[in-house]
This record gives sequence, structure tokens and C-alpha cells, in this order.
Amino acid sequence: MNIIIINGPNLNLLGKRETAIYGQGNFEDYFKLLKVKYPNIQLEYYQSNVEGEIVNKLHEVGFTYDGIVLNAAAYTHTSIAIADAVKAISTHVVEVHISNVFSREDFRHVSMMGPAVKGSISGFGLDSYRLAIESFLKS
Ligand code: DQA
Repeated sequence: MNIIIINGPNLNLLGKRETAIYGQGNFEDYFKLLKVKYPNIQLEYYQSNVEGEIVNKLHEVGFTYDGIVLNAAAYTHTSIAIADAVKAISTHVVEVHISNVFSREDFRHVSMMGPAVKGSISGFGLDSYRLAIESFLKS
């Protein structure tokens, strides 16, 4: 089984960025833990700050991979292009957020991804990614 985690803008700064909201841990260290936890999954990680690069990555993996875990970060709330890419591919996508977007500013309550994804997980810190992976194991 192969699953890719795709992270959007500013998530390369996890551990440094707004740590009261996003925590102290950086994603690379967390990803190493995930790889150890799931030795039988081919787990990949991709991050980009560029909208079109995220679209390209979804096209690249979206017909062959078993699952996509997508944290589109701020693009969640704005990007019709990424939402259209999610609709265009055949691999199921689970939307993930580290923070509880519904307890934050109103603009974060809207997800362009929402109608296109299989489901959404929000507010469990980095553990949101593990929960998304588990959802693929159970489906
Ligand atoms: C985020 C929530 C978004 O609103 C925000 O723009 C992010 C991160 C999260 O993981 O909680 O960059 O997707």
C-alpha cells in the first residue's frame, strides 16, 4: 500500500511557526515516527508552498497511489484549482488540519476541499495525520 502526505504552504515551518497553534514539533521528525509505525506502508511526504506544484503532485500520484493525505493549509480556504485537482483524480483524498479550523477565524471554517475529499480530520495536532492514515487502513 502506498500513501502520500501532501503539505501546503508554510507547513515547512512547523516547529518554528505559531507554535502555540501548531506545536513545537517539525514535520520531518514526525514523518520519521510515522515511517517506523507503519513499516508495511510505502509512506511518502511532499511539501510545497506553490499552488500549481500541489496540483501537479496530485495529478502525478492521483491515479496510482492508494491514499492521499492532504493538508492544503491556507489553500484549503481559497484554492479552486486544488479542489478541482482532488475531484479530477481517482485516488481518495483525506483532508487534514493540525489545528481545529472550526474554532478559529471565520475564513478558516470554509474548505474548498470539503466537497471533493473522502473525509476531513481537524484539530488533533500532528496526530491528525496518523488518524488519516488509519482511515485508509480501515477502508
Ligand atoms: C492548517 C489550518 C489552515 O487554516 C492554515 O492556513 C494552515 C494550517 C492546519 O493544519 O491547522 O496553514 O491547515
